[in-house]
Amino acid sequence: MKTILIFVSTLDGKVTKWGSSHVKFWSSHQDQDYYKNVLNESKLIVMGSNTFNTDSFKPSAGHLLTIMTRHPDKYKSLEVPGQIEFTNESPAALTARFKSKVYKQMLVIGGPHIATSFLKEQLIDELWLTFEPKIFGTGGNFVTDVKLDINLRLIHFEKVNEQGTLITKYTVLKK
Ligand SMILES: NC(=O)c1ccc[n+]([C@@H]2O[C@H](COP(=O)([O-])OP(=O)(O)OC[C@H]3O[C@@H](n4cnc5c(N)ncnc54)[C@H](OP(=O)(O)O)[C@@H]3O)[C@@H](O)[C@H]2O)c1
Repeated sequence: MKTILIFVSTLDGKVTKWGSSHVKFWSSHQDQDYYKNVLNESKLIVMGSNTFNTDSFKPSAGHLLTIMTRHPDKYKSLEVPGQIEFTNESPAALTARFKSKVYKQMLVIGGPHIATSFLKEQLIDELWLTFEPKIFGTGGNFVTDVKLDINLRLIHFEKVNEQGTLITKYTVLKK
């Protein structure tokens, strides 16, 4: 199973504008269309509870949304069997469970806390990162403030508009 981490970032590495504004208010429509397509094509989507709570994710057949939280009981009423689940499994346990169910791909859509916990445990195979040609100065980075030492190789890049939004894909070089 390939585990993919996807984010849209400014040139100064920010994934939220000034720490709060949602991507839909500042990312290009080309990136939003691309992201929508990636989500539509993903059978298995993993995110943290904060990302879930800042967006409107609807259950849909053919997609399993897995939300990581230490308090799955809090979200019991939102569960939809086979479509939306809440779990307090660790990133490693979650990855092993889905591997054993022979999923081909797992898409991790953030946010930074979840991304960091997967990266720390070397569970990410590819990073799909869109660079918006913007600088926000302040705001959250797509990883939190921990020491990491990860090398990646660029495998794809595409300029998708006149301003120069770049859709890129990197593979993580395993140690
Ligand atoms: N630009 C982008 O591409 C992009 C993508 C995604 C998100 N975002 C933005 O990122 C922000 C949310 O990111 P975030 O980092 O605050 O939250 P997050 O990563 O979405 O969720 C973190 C929460 O998940 C739960 N959790 C369960 N297991 C965990 C584990 N192993 N490691 C870490 N957390 C775990 C904890 O909440 P409990 O209290 O429930 O246990 C934790 O507070 C939002 O503003 C969103 O808009 C941006």
